[in-house]
Amino acid sequence: MPVVVDPDPMVVESLLAAMPAGSHGVESIDRLNAWLSSHADEYVVVLGPTLSDEESISTCELLRTTTPAISAVLARETMESDLLTKAMKAGARDVVHATDTGALTEAIGRAYQLFVALRGPAGALHISKVISVFSPKGGVGKTTLSVNLALALTDKGARRVCLVDLDLAFGDVAITMQLFPTHSIEQAIGAEETMDVEMLDSLLTRHQDSLMVLAAPPHPDTRERVSPRLVSRLIRTLRQTFDYVVIDMAPAFDEQVLTALDETDEVVLIATLDVPTLKNVKVAVETFDALHIAKDNRHLVLNRADDEVGINADKVEGILGMPVTAQISSSTEVAAATNAGSPIVVSDPEHQMSVAIRQLATGLAGQIIGPPGSETAETKPTPAAKADSGSRLRRRK
Ligand SMILES: Nc1ncnc2c1ncn2[C@@H]1O[C@H](COP(=O)(O)OP(=O)(O)OP(=O)(O)O)[C@@H](O)[C@H]1O
Ligand SMILES: [Mg+2]
Repeated sequence: MPVVVDPDPMVVESLLAAMPAGSHGVESIDRLNAWLSSHADEYVVVLGPTLSDEESISTCELLRTTTPAISAVLARETMESDLLTKAMKAGARDVVHATDTGALTEAIGRAYQLFVALRGPAGALHISKVISVFSPKGGVGKTTLSVNLALALTDKGARRVCLVDLDLAFGDVAITMQLFPTHSIEQAIGAEETMDVEMLDSLLTRHQDSLMVLAAPPHPDTRERVSPRLVSRLIRTLRQTFDYVVIDMAPAFDEQVLTALDETDEVVLIATLDVPTLKNVKVAVETFDALHIAKDNRHLVLNRADDEVGINADKVEGILGMPVTAQISSSTEVAAATNAGSPIVVSDPEHQMSVAIRQLATGLAGQIIGPPGSETAETKPTPAAKADSGSRLRRRK
């Protein structure tokens, strides 16, 4: 899907509004390169007006020589003839005025035609993974973990991730991320048969760290009107354009949660070191077994794992009959970061919880996810690797 790059999140948002549903935004050329190295099906890059002319021109030049099937479109505030000449020479396919949405739409359409002509309509295949964060107990850190995991998975924009708040009655993802959604799952009610990428895109809220959020309805009683069929349709539609869909679940086996679990590839199960929680998690694991849910794809996370309460990780593994994948300590900084609206993986990437979450994300993604600013083997594109990127096909589920 089209990608726009601009350091200003507001500019990204306004350009995305003029681009096809499912388009992605990143904040820097470094993150654009990371995105391109894992999205062989990309066909157009829109270079936003806040990027310097030099950086935009050199990006056009690199795309022209390494991945000619990807069109570069410059969106500029002013159209000086000197810049137009330079852009043409560097291989930009279009230069449009940043506020001319019609011209931008046309340019993207032309880029798609060119891509199809060069690559064929099938383009590349697309992998999508649904990761659900569940615990039968409230207050154990589901939302904290979901938010931080989703942010870690975006790898600062290298991947397209949607965080779904499926705690339909008491969802708190939006407030945790200090977002103010204008739309939520509520506006999808009734669209069980008609929901498509375009409609769903209009219900999402963008977090500045390149993460999209599908918020829970604002009122608890709306929950009853969200049918399991709708939940399944929402997840399947999100799979079409997102690399990862992370679901923050309600602490219950209600029909919406069960439906979402059926659509899930990986379940992250959260436990804490208290007997009632462990007892409930054990019942949950038995229920998963009985319903054949994600048999080989369960990941146990111990939150507040350093609490001195006479139960340790070994004991938990014995009780639950499964290994502990990640342990997260109690830390006032975690709660403080959340309260400040900047989740810990973003505000303090070297914090123990951030490191643990990145490791978990790496395990779930099957790709190395490095701390912000680092260029991992996965994200560092060489011109040769980029030229070759067309051969790294991805699977559509
Ligand atoms: N490792 C941790 N260290 C310190 N505080 C934490 C930790 N994990 C979570 N918290 C805090 O615990 C509280 C509950 O966490 P959170 O909201 O993520 O739980 P939840 O499982 O989503 O709850 P609910 O069931 O109500 O949705 C929050 O204030 C959060 O900041
Ligand atoms: Mg929660």
